[in-house]
Amino acid sequence: MQLTLAQIAAATGGRVVGSPATIVDGFANDSRSIAVGECFVAIADQRDGHDFVATAAAAGATAALVARNDDDHDLPLVVVDDPLAALARLATVVRGDRLSGTRVVGVTGSTGKTSTKDLLASALATELRVHANRSSFNNEIGLPVTLLGARDDTEVLVCEMGARVAGNVAALCAVARPEIGVITNIGMAHAEHLGGADGTERVKGELLEALPADGLAGLNADDPVSLRLARRSKAPVATAGRASDATVRIVSATIDGELRCSIRLRTPWGDVESRLGLRGAHQAANAALAATAALHLGVSPAGVAEGLAAARGSSWRMELAHTVDGITILNDAYNANPDSMRAALEAVRDLAVDGRRYAVLGTMRELGADSVAEHRAIGRFAAACGIDHLVVVGDDDEVGGLASGAREAGAAVEQVDDATAALEAVRLRLRAGDALLVKASRAVGLESIALALCAAGADAS
Ligand SMILES: Nc1ncnc2c1ncn2[C@@H]1O[C@H](COP(=O)(O)OP(=O)(O)OP(=O)(O)O)[C@@H](O)[C@H]1O
Ligand SMILES: [Mg+2]
Repeated sequence: MQLTLAQIAAATGGRVVGSPATIVDGFANDSRSIAVGECFVAIADQRDGHDFVATAAAAGATAALVARNDDDHDLPLVVVDDPLAALARLATVVRGDRLSGTRVVGVTGSTGKTSTKDLLASALATELRVHANRSSFNNEIGLPVTLLGARDDTEVLVCEMGARVAGNVAALCAVARPEIGVITNIGMAHAEHLGGADGTERVKGELLEALPADGLAGLNADDPVSLRLARRSKAPVATAGRASDATVRIVSATIDGELRCSIRLRTPWGDVESRLGLRGAHQAANAALAATAALHLGVSPAGVAEGLAAARGSSWRMELAHTVDGITILNDAYNANPDSMRAALEAVRDLAVDGRRYAVLGTMRELGADSVAEHRAIGRFAAACGIDHLVVVGDDDEVGGLASGAREAGAAVEQVDDATAALEAVRLRLRAGDALLVKASRAVGLESIALALCAAGADAS
């Protein structure tokens, strides 16, 4: 949406330097990915955004929201005390004003937020004007940026909401004011910072507390921890999953050799049959929740089916590619926690391959006290899923747990220092007909292995 600097200053209590009539269309805090016409927001994160105002100007930014004017440029500015707080304030004002008629869906949970958001946005887009966050833009920067990037005539806004500490989701809800809340599941992701499983449950429940009585809470019918949260919702609850009493019930889900899951949902709005656009058997649960929200918002069962099939995933999540050498690569290196590790290992098991199954795995971070035991269990699970040869990356206790678990359960294991060494290790072994999974927490950066193996001319599918 278009905003003038005068409007931004009025909403944030800021001071304009330059022409107040300057128009911006969208906001960004990364000068490397800013689009022409956007407003650069100088936020002090790992680096101070104020050092990049001139770079943003050169990249096409029309204005900047800053706390001080100390760079050499002639970009029009709105100067505020705290650009991050001002961004939230501006988004809150816009939500109550230009987007007051927009219906907002918040999506949170431990695992599968982005997948569910992508499935839901695609299901909604078949019949409604939709705007959703890019990629995993789900925090106190990404959510206001998403909201301010919506067109004025947006009918439904889908906002992923992440949490690192208690209160995060409540703060995001104060800006976005969701009418519908979807919780994918409650598990171990980020458990360390959230105070274990109980803390995770508390912070995800903040979404339900923010819903109005005439809204809707979409919960996972197969996750007892999520269901416990229902009492925190004033809004009626709809459940989705395999359980026989689910509002939206998965009556069948079959996975094919390309990891596409075909599902049939029985719903109060009619049956939905779809071959999902996202890969992996675990997407059935995400799709059932996405369907629940889309059907509630008035999309027809046929529209939902079409949209779920058309969904495209975000990068490095269950990306399947076949190299020219006949090797199948599953790049799920975006992130990892025990639930998503299990889902990915099951996917390798389900792949239609003639040869051997390899996995390069690294640490799952932020798991807290049980971390090594969780890694050992994943090592065992990898062997049970038919991984013939496991390459583990790193030398911490977690990686040791992965290695010993897999060895105990009968897999061959090789331990290497980093992604480069892992690439060399698998390059020596991979033959036509083999499959390889790469997965670890974001910081381990294992996607480089998949990208290098595919670089020789992948046939992505
Ligand atoms: N319901 C699920 N159960 C288990 N694993 C899942 C589920 N949904 C997605 N995944 C897997 O979890 C990983 C992350 O998925 P996704 O990006 O959708 O989650 P997210 O909650 O948005 O993560 P983040 O906290 O990094 O934003 C991927 O490997 C994906 O395949
Ligand atoms: Mg995400």
